[in-house]
Amino acid sequence: MIPENQQRGNFGGKVGFILAAAGSAIGLGNIWRFPYTAGEHGGGAFVLVYLAFVVLVGIPVLLAELSIGRASQRNPVGAFRVLAPRTWWPAVGALGVVTGFAILAFYSVVAGWTVGYLVKAMRGDFAAGITASESAAQFQALIGNPGLAIALTAVFMVLTVGVIQFGVGEGIERFSKVLMPAFFVLLLLLAGRSLTLPGAGAGLRFLFHFDPSQLTIPVIMGALGQALFSLSLGMGCMITYGSYLPRRENLPFAAVSVAFFDTLIALLAGIIIFPALFTAGADPAGGAGLVFIAMPTVFDSLPAGQLFAVAFYALLAIAALTSTISLLEVVVAYFVDEKGWPRAAVAWGIGFLCFLLAIPSALSQGAVPALSGGEGSLLPLSFLDLNNILFGNYGLTFGSLLISLFVGWKWGTRAALEEMKRGAGTDRAWWHAAWAFLVRFVCPVAIVLIFVFILWTGEYF
Ligand code: PFF
Repeated sequence: MIPENQQRGNFGGKVGFILAAAGSAIGLGNIWRFPYTAGEHGGGAFVLVYLAFVVLVGIPVLLAELSIGRASQRNPVGAFRVLAPRTWWPAVGALGVVTGFAILAFYSVVAGWTVGYLVKAMRGDFAAGITASESAAQFQALIGNPGLAIALTAVFMVLTVGVIQFGVGEGIERFSKVLMPAFFVLLLLLAGRSLTLPGAGAGLRFLFHFDPSQLTIPVIMGALGQALFSLSLGMGCMITYGSYLPRRENLPFAAVSVAFFDTLIALLAGIIIFPALFTAGADPAGGAGLVFIAMPTVFDSLPAGQLFAVAFYALLAIAALTSTISLLEVVVAYFVDEKGWPRAAVAWGIGFLCFLLAIPSALSQGAVPALSGGEGSLLPLSFLDLNNILFGNYGLTFGSLLISLFVGWKWGTRAALEEMKRGAGTDRAWWHAAWAFLVRFVCPVAIVLIFVFILWTGEYF
């Protein structure tokens, strides 16, 4: 067993770890990406497949990643090097580091929008009730403004680097402990409001009515990608966080808690947003602006609406921040562990490079037509959407395939289970065999089948 390395920093305990890992998992993926992807993919069918993937692929891969991390005490590249020396497996970790960098480069753009909306909420822009089309025009004015979009991205990147430079316990854990519970309470309050709107019935029906005719390959791929994206899987983020989880802590309990809260919050976001959308008469398939367009139409009908608006965007920005720090941490941990470079310098350097890569995404929302996708553009989708699907769906799915193959067939489910048992207090549990079966067979077969179907039908997104 590799000795625990206290020098690398550690989460103080179970609660801190769960909140930090939940902080990584809960973010724009839940509040921004889940509702709009569900909206574009017809609602209920997508949601059901998504939930199935959380259980059948998400939780098994989450347990696999955390075990790899805690057993090896390393960043994703180092982890594979320790557990499978002199093989090509560390390349899987490297793929994860690259994927994390690429995801951060579009994620930080959307995170920047949340800061822009926080400022708008403070100015009272949504105080006097606005219609869905006014709201859409306001959103477009913000994201289509090149200087503003780039500046907001820069603000967000600076915030992220500002936390990461302090390391794990002092930076990540301290922030997550306060912010995640506050976010949860606010979401419950907003859900209560949305459920009493006139469009609540229609919204919920859209979200939960299962229509099998909607089950197409892009919907299934989208649901799988969303499940992995939302749980921060497939790129070694949970390997990295697992490497900071003390051995005395109960790993399976932590994993299931994180998956539970992440899924609950995605569903809550849907329960808040779809009633609001149907009340305002907006189109659920409206794309990436959905949350930003829907929410401002509800605030004004709330008592102390402006306060709610400010709190909502503040917490959304914070949820995004606890996720961007986990994305950047993967890349930083690699350079700190493997190259021995100083943490703060690496954090600023990588943050700056990532900001440069984020600029085309920031400009792809109307500011530069060539990058905006569709007619008159060089791209089938906007540069931001393209990265979102390429890295957020395909990159994470491919990474999860390789991770499940590694744990199922190379490192071995027995070794992984040994790691999971540490701190869990039980030697045998009913789910051990179920988990091993899912990782060895269900995860890889499901993913390969989906890829084969995609190649077969040529429907990529
Ligand atoms: N899970 C985050 C979200 O739902 O917003 C996004 C994310 C973070 C994806 C970290 C991947 C990752 F490694």
